[in-house]
Amino acid sequence: MAIPAEFLEELKARVDLVSIVARRVALTRKGREHLGLCPFHQEKTPSFTVNEQKGFYHCFGCGAHGSAIDFVMQADRLEFRDAVASLAALAGLSVPDEDKVRRPEDDQRARLYAVNEAATQCFEAALRATDGRDALAYVRSRDLGRELIGRFRLGYAADGGGLRAALRRDGFSDEIMVAAGLLVRGDDSGRPPYPRFRNRVMFPIADAQGRILGFGGRSLGDAQPKYLNTAETEVFHKGRLLYGLALAGEAARRRRTIIVVEGYMDVIGLARTGIDHAVAPLGTALTEDQLRLLWRLVPEPILCFDPDRAGRRAAMRAAERALPLLRAGIGLRFAFLATDTGDDPDGVARRYPRQFLDRAFTEAVALSDVVLWMETGGVTTFSPEDRAAVEARLRRRLERVGDPDVRAHFLRDFRNRLWQRERRPVRQARGFSPPWRGRWEEPPPVASGGPRVRPPSALAVAERTLLACLLNNPPFYAQAEEALGSLTFSEAGSERLRQALVDVLASDADLSHTELAAALRSRGHGDQVTEVLADPLLAHHRALCREASSEDLEALWRENLAVLRAAAERGGDDDGAGAAAESDEAMRRRQLLKRAALEEGDDEA
Ligand code: UTP
Ligand code: MN
Repeated sequence: MAIPAEFLEELKARVDLVSIVARRVALTRKGREHLGLCPFHQEKTPSFTVNEQKGFYHCFGCGAHGSAIDFVMQADRLEFRDAVASLAALAGLSVPDEDKVRRPEDDQRARLYAVNEAATQCFEAALRATDGRDALAYVRSRDLGRELIGRFRLGYAADGGGLRAALRRDGFSDEIMVAAGLLVRGDDSGRPPYPRFRNRVMFPIADAQGRILGFGGRSLGDAQPKYLNTAETEVFHKGRLLYGLALAGEAARRRRTIIVVEGYMDVIGLARTGIDHAVAPLGTALTEDQLRLLWRLVPEPILCFDPDRAGRRAAMRAAERALPLLRAGIGLRFAFLATDTGDDPDGVARRYPRQFLDRAFTEAVALSDVVLWMETGGVTTFSPEDRAAVEARLRRRLERVGDPDVRAHFLRDFRNRLWQRERRPVRQARGFSPPWRGRWEEPPPVASGGPRVRPPSALAVAERTLLACLLNNPPFYAQAEEALGSLTFSEAGSERLRQALVDVLASDADLSHTELAAALRSRGHGDQVTEVLADPLLAHHRALCREASSEDLEALWRENLAVLRAAAERGGDDDGAGAAAESDEAMRRRQLLKRAALEEGDDEA
């Protein structure tokens, strides 16, 4: 039911736009207007004005414009109705139809929020209970500590009827649980509905205000499907939600940027390193609704993709989808995470220094770069005829841009660059710094960007970790023997130690860790042993201390073995990267030390 127009007019007249804006923007009076730094785009000199008399704000930089209601919608990420309600409360008015007719569909929505919230609490409790032991071990094996589990409200859906029983005790009916997608009705109507999520780690999915609308459930191991999401319900619409938005919103606004990654685990993995302004779609390509959600928060979201073929295709798809929606002042940037280990953002956050991520994000390229690459395939020099053809293709592509000003701007930009590239070497051309050299179709080089900051070699770290597993726990050799014997390590010192370890342990597997170290020392590997054991990362690692559980140790082993196998599969001869990586050793260590310290604190909490 629409809110009457007269009421909206009265509301706008009653509220004090200046003081509403002033909650977020420091304003100074200038004649009839108030002036400040625009909260909707990044700027150093103020171009955001508030006209008290006329009751609107306007930004000369990004074109943001509107009434108090628009401001609250945009600044507080509220739906129209909620923005009106919040302003009405401020002005001491009550929204007309809201108190008279409570719409039945609102009641149903409220019930769905409530049942999802109750389910979230059940799942959270189950993860802490005995039933959730395996799930908790799995979650911990992915480096998720108490704080992150709490912040993202991770939980566990057990295999039985526990959820249904608990929610019924709380007064929820089967009908509402089915409507929320928590239970599924079987075919024969005699049997009670059964839980949709069984034996899964639960990731609650909330709207911008933190109301839980649905879930993603991850299997504990390799069981398929890996993720099961809530089916569409009255409140859960995959294409209109972003995982992590409620948590990321505040940070995104503060930092004036938001990062979009592919997976739930990527969002959480980035949060672990302090990148708390990341969100993810729910397993589909970004939709227009999701782009609009992002643009409500910041003018230029950063989409993060793998540098492989699939990632580049996804980037192009996103670019195409965004073109028709562009207006002055909004855009997209594209970051590509290129590592020698093919890690997703979660893996990168675990294995690489934070600077590597920061750099990938600050070097994110503009939407226009991606469009240019789509049409040039990364070719950088053209004959005059080629250039004319490329320009025609670009022009055709830009027909999709709805806003004529934006279209003209893009075209001017492309022309400049096509001309500039004729006269100057590409890398000097303004604003054209591709994240990988070479052609769009070809695989990117090992690290994104120049040789100054290569990522440290994740391989070398993984190799040492495997060695440390055995140095600390010789009996583990029984499980490790086969894998350890079949590997060749890339780092010479590690490789020598690996061979010696196999020799010693193959002839005597009952050594204690001190005896093992002594045996290796007597064979001339003392320095290497000391180096591995004194590695600050490993020395502090939870899974490597004497009291560590065997699950933790196994998980660490498996994870690092997977790194080596993945590298081997890619033909992982990364001599060059390995050598360059040594110079980043200090940086890596500082990072890892910090993380180890955090993790310890977390465990004690
Ligand atoms: P990923 O496979 O990259 O998942 O899929 P992830 O979040 O990194 O999780 P881990 O690291 O493998 O545990 C990306 C996203 O695609 C959706 C989920 O939203 C996931 O986060 N997805 C994936 C599904 O919906 N179903 C699936 O079976 C797999
Ligand atoms: Mn992943």
